Amino acid sequence: MITVISGTNRPNSLTAAFSRQVVTELKSQTDEEIQLIDLAELPHDYFHSGMYDPEKTPTAFRALHEEKLLPAQKLVVLSPEYNGSFAGAIKVFFDAVSVHEYALNFKQKPILLIGVSTGRAGNLRGLDHLSHILEHMGGYLIGGKLPISLAGALVNDDREVVDSATKATIAKQITHLISI
Ligand SMILES: Cc1cc2nc3c(=O)[nH]c(=O)nc-3n(C[C@H](O)[C@H](O)[C@H](O)COP(=O)(O)O)c2cc1C
Repeated sequence: MITVISGTNRPNSLTAAFSRQVVTELKSQTDEEIQLIDLAELPHDYFHSGMYDPEKTPTAFRALHEEKLLPAQKLVVLSPEYNGSFAGAIKVFFDAVSVHEYALNFKQKPILLIGVSTGRAGNLRGLDHLSHILEHMGGYLIGGKLPISLAGALVNDDREVVDSATKATIAKQITHLISI
C-alpha cells in the first residue's frame, strides 16, 4: 500500500487538488493499493486535550489510522505553505497518531514530499521542516523534494491539475518512489 497524505484541513485546498493528481498518477503506474488521507475530511474530534491518551482516541480516527497509515509501505506527503512552513493541522495529525504503535507509522518507510504554494517558494522551507519531523519519527525521505510554486495557475476551475510540465514532474517522482 502507498498512502498519500493531503496535509491541510482547509476545504477545497490546492493541496488536495495536487494530492488527487498524485493518487491518479500512482494508480496509473502501479497495481499496489493506493489510499488517500485528506485531513479536510477527517472528523476533527481527535484534537482535544485527551489526544495523548490512546484510550480516548475516537473510533473513526483509530480506524483510519489502522486502515490507511499503519499498512502503508510508502508515503507521499503533500503540504501547503502556511506562514512560511507546513500547516498546523498536519502536526496535530502526526502527534495524534504517534501515541499509537509509534514504530509502525513512519519508521523505515520511504516518503516523497511535495510542497504547494501560490507564492514562489513552493513551501521549500516547510518541506525542510517536515523532513526533520518525519526523519525524527524514523521515516526515510527520498531525494528530490518537489516544490510546486504559483500553484493556482496550474489547475483549472474544477481544481484539476492541467499543467503538463507539472504533471510530468510529479509522474517522474512517483516513478522514483515506486522503484525504491
Ligand atoms: C493560513 C495560510 C497561510 C499562508 N501562508 C503562505 C505563505 O507564507 N507563503 C505563501 O506563498 N503562501 C501562503 N499561503 C497561501 C497558500 O500557499 C495557498 O493557499 C496555496 O494554495 C496552498 O494552500 P492550500 O492547499 O490551502 O490551497 C497561505 C494560506 C493560508 C490559508
